[in-house]
Amino acid sequence: MSPFLITRTLPEEATDAALRADVLRGLTRTPKTLPPKWFYDAHGSELFEKINDLAEYYPPRAERELLIAHSADIAAATGARTLIELGSGSSEKTRHLLDAMPHLHTYVPVDVSESALTQAGHTLVEQRPGLNVHALIADFTTGLALPGTPGPRLFAFLGSTIGNLLPRERATFLSSIQSLLSPGDALLLGIDLVKDEQALIAAYDDATGVTAAFNKNVLSVINRALNADFDLDAFQHVVRWNAANERIEMRLRARTNQTVKIPAIGLTVDFAAGEELRTEVSAKFREPVLRRELALRGLELTRWWTAGPLYGIALARPSAPPTAAQLDTSRRLWAHDRSS
Ligand code: SAH
Ligand code: TRP
Repeated sequence: MSPFLITRTLPEEATDAALRADVLRGLTRTPKTLPPKWFYDAHGSELFEKINDLAEYYPPRAERELLIAHSADIAAATGARTLIELGSGSSEKTRHLLDAMPHLHTYVPVDVSESALTQAGHTLVEQRPGLNVHALIADFTTGLALPGTPGPRLFAFLGSTIGNLLPRERATFLSSIQSLLSPGDALLLGIDLVKDEQALIAAYDDATGVTAAFNKNVLSVINRALNADFDLDAFQHVVRWNAANERIEMRLRARTNQTVKIPAIGLTVDFAAGEELRTEVSAKFREPVLRRELALRGLELTRWWTAGPLYGIALARPSAPPTAAQLDTSRRLWAHDRSS
């Protein structure tokens, strides 16, 4: 194969149809919500790279430190010949893993952002002439059609992106990855940990307003793709710590009573002054909770490294299916989380 391939696994019409369906569903329910994958057009991906450089946003530094310290262990433990990365973005931190894997045959970055994949892919093949890079424009929450590549395979899901899935979505996601894993394959997760509320809030509400611009970018995406007339200045970026569910919640609060038109889907949406639209959750974890959640989906947490109390990376392997008692616990956990 040529060293850099990019495959769109979903036709553009499907992406467009998915956006319409998500906007229609999310803006006609109470409370209003939008799924986070629509933040990431080219401008959104650029803004996210700026978030990664913010003093307040500690996760990338913590994750990089962990990858520098433990990539050799990860490479040795997995012997991976294929690295499949979900939500790979700029693939910037992934370099530490790639550097530690001399026998790697193919790297498969998977992302909804074509611009992020193209940029990352070109840089990678320039710097690593021997490596095959097969990028996939795909949604990791719907069935993944992966290219045939040599095993063992390591799946990586970094940046604490797993926290952006709601509990039910997370369960479905983990089960679907589990079903893709052959014996000998492994899953590497970047996990943000529960910590002091002030540090968490600051990480999602930086002083320079980059995060606020990123949050509002979802409205620009809808304006452009669906001809809508959201006024970005009429919304305020709001960050909350949801203590009961141990997650950050990002919202956009309407500053005034207003009506937004979205002609492409024939929708008119009223916002009352003060009404909040939830755009993203970012769940924070504790190791025992993560271990249990993985076990419920047939995954065993086999290695766990932390950067002090801030952040962790987890290596998991396919295990036996969950017992009836474990499944019962899972049902009760969901019953507590009404927003899932
Ligand atoms: N892993 C990178 C980027 C994290 S940001 C890092 O640690 O810096 C989350 C990334 O996931 C973005 O690049 C975004 O475009 C992508 N993404 C979000 N939702 C997605 C989905 N449903 N399917 C595929 N990619 C998604
Ligand atoms: N995975 C990242 C996180 O939860 C995504 C993210 C970082 C994010 N900062 C954000 C999403 C601000 C929305 C707004 O930490």
